[in-house]
Amino acid sequence: VATEGLSDVLLAWYDRHARVMPWRVAPADRAAGVRPDPYRVWLSEVMLQQTTVAAVRDYFHRFTARWPDVAALASAADADVMAEWAGLGYYARARNLLKGARAVVADHGGHFPDTVAGLLTLPGVGPYTAAAVASIAFDAPAVVVDGNVERVMARLHGVEQPLPAAKPALTALAAALTPDRRPGDYAQAVMDLGATICTPRNPACGICPWSGPCVARAEGVQADLPRKTPK
Ligand code: ADE
Repeated sequence: VATEGLSDVLLAWYDRHARVMPWRVAPADRAAGVRPDPYRVWLSEVMLQQTTVAAVRDYFHRFTARWPDVAALASAADADVMAEWAGLGYYARARNLLKGARAVVADHGGHFPDTVAGLLTLPGVGPYTAAAVASIAFDAPAVVVDGNVERVMARLHGVEQPLPAAKPALTALAAALTPDRRPGDYAQAVMDLGATICTPRNPACGICPWSGPCVARAEGVQADLPRKTPK
């Protein structure tokens, strides 16, 4: 796949079709230079680990209404945070969320670290979340790889190697495409493409901004990729 210009095509698509989410900045505000709030980006990404956007939405609203910034969350009682989290599952995330908020306040003066390495020092922040927050909140050209991104890369490049063995190759392909310009929007654009067009079943190739260069589509194997090694 010739990668020249691919990110520009996707960013133009994102400017028209980005999903509206409560932690995102509206397109008009984005054009005016408004940056996302790192606290809201971090909170949303922790909630979105293992949980769908639809399930997260109401929890995100309740959390940010009750604890509007990281200092407020850091001083919350553990039991109150656990009670607000009830129903989201994977409760270690909630305990780490509190530890993370307290670390930001105690060790970073209330400001989130703006690099992948700095973010990785926070409890509950692994490689995916660190890359997502660095790119979305701080426009660092970090490589964000989740299941959506793996599927999009496997299809775009026609990767026949099955998951999980293909993970390093798919990460390298994602890295090669990540632009220096608007990396946070780009990361969210790939996720939106994977969630709305390049879906696991019945991908909507007819309206995909990357259908032209897509190897899987040219070969008619898009519904078969990414392949998976049976468990
Ligand atoms: N899944 C996880 N983080 C996301 C984001 N920022 N946008 C869309 N889907 C996501």
